[in-house]
Amino acid sequence: MKFFIDTANIAQIKEANDLGILDGVTTNPSLMAKEGIKGHDAIMKHYKDICEIVDGPVSAEVFGTTFDEIIMEGKVLAAIHENIVVKVPMIKEGVKAIKWFTDNGIRTNCTLVFSAGQAILAAKAGAAFVSPFIGRIDDSSWDGVQLIEQIVGIYNAQGYMTEVLAASIRNPLHIVRCAEAGADICTCPLVSILGLLKHPLTDIGLEQFLNDAKKMQ
Ligand code: G3P
Repeated sequence: MKFFIDTANIAQIKEANDLGILDGVTTNPSLMAKEGIKGHDAIMKHYKDICEIVDGPVSAEVFGTTFDEIIMEGKVLAAIHENIVVKVPMIKEGVKAIKWFTDNGIRTNCTLVFSAGQAILAAKAGAAFVSPFIGRIDDSSWDGVQLIEQIVGIYNAQGYMTEVLAASIRNPLHIVRCAEAGADICTCPLVSILGLLKHPLTDIGLEQFLNDAKKMQ
């Protein structure tokens, strides 16, 4: 399973990249706004900066909701850097736009996916990635990871090439369960990635080893 980081924060992207396990980045308008990015030029520069840090797909989301708006914005985003993937919402106009981008050699990430039916449509349109939001599903007392299992099963049965990108990750257990469910990618906040490191027995064991190591010096 590949690891993407779900943030527009440059320091966090660098920290995850320095770990050596980062395969890509996802952003969305909320994450960009959180970093205080405002205006066309600042947005373009920010995506370019991210692409220069991470050697992998970087999802940049369109703001438009009509076919023409999505196509116009997506073309501009895709021109920033070869690693840019145009993130398109799962709406009727979005599906049409994903098909257009696919036919024109531009990779897309279909976002705001909450059902297997939506994931089938995204794959049929040729999305490179589909983003089921598992944390938000859990928030509504459904099991988000079950949706990942279902989509992975359908894509395998049908031979769809779209990669399942588990999004809206809230904790390290989500990452582990997505790996079990066969997700191709997990996009996570830095805190969830770092949470995978934690185990009290590791800390206790290391302390003991370091104490014993002193006895040998
Ligand atoms: O980038 C989309 C997704 O990961 C959002 O996560 O935590 O806002 O539900 P969250």
